[in-house]
Amino acid sequence: MPHADSAMIPAGLDKAAFWEHVHEQLSYLLDGQRNWVTNLANASSLIYNALQAFPDFGTGERMVNWCGFYLNSELFPAPQLTATTVEARDDQPARLLLGPFCGKPACQLINVAPGLARGVCADAYCQRKTVLVRDVDAYPGHIACDGETKSEVVCPLLLTVNGEEKAIGVLDLDCLALSGFDEQDQAGLEKIARLVVGACDW
Ligand code: SME
Repeated sequence: MPHADSAMIPAGLDKAAFWEHVHEQLSYLLDGQRNWVTNLANASSLIYNALQAFPDFGTGERMVNWCGFYLNSELFPAPQLTATTVEARDDQPARLLLGPFCGKPACQLINVAPGLARGVCADAYCQRKTVLVRDVDAYPGHIACDGETKSEVVCPLLLTVNGEEKAIGVLDLDCLALSGFDEQDQAGLEKIARLVVGACDW
């Protein structure tokens, strides 16, 4: 099957079956590849395009306008070190850096250092819990990358290192409708986040 066809959605699926289908298609796409840039690029494209093909689960119209990842900046390849860059890196507070995504351009850096953390992604990352936002304007600290976004869901990417669960990034989805995501979406996305984390070398 051509890779692009993995985002095609069979007719007649309910929401739970939709997320099961996306999970299964993603497991095929990730098979045999452990590079996180490659895998997160395909994961964001698959989720985004599957949702475009199936935006309405019977509860009203919705349109997902952004789907992507923010990762702990330490996971990105280090620049060639010089005295200046070493100094600059030592001074940097903990932050998330924009990773693979589908949608319009978005903010590159999100602060997650104590006292500086702000926004939905930072909260999901710092609390290691999914944050479901039915109205972004009512969410304290929400960072508006696109003024048209009305609701959002952010799942942490959780990796177990030496028996300890660590957040390494987040999976973020935005929607043009209020209450665009619910607990069923949350469950589907959390399962996908676990699949993606387990499929990559970090
Ligand atoms: N709204 C997010 C920022 C990322 S964009 O939505 C792509 C937040 O509050 O963290």
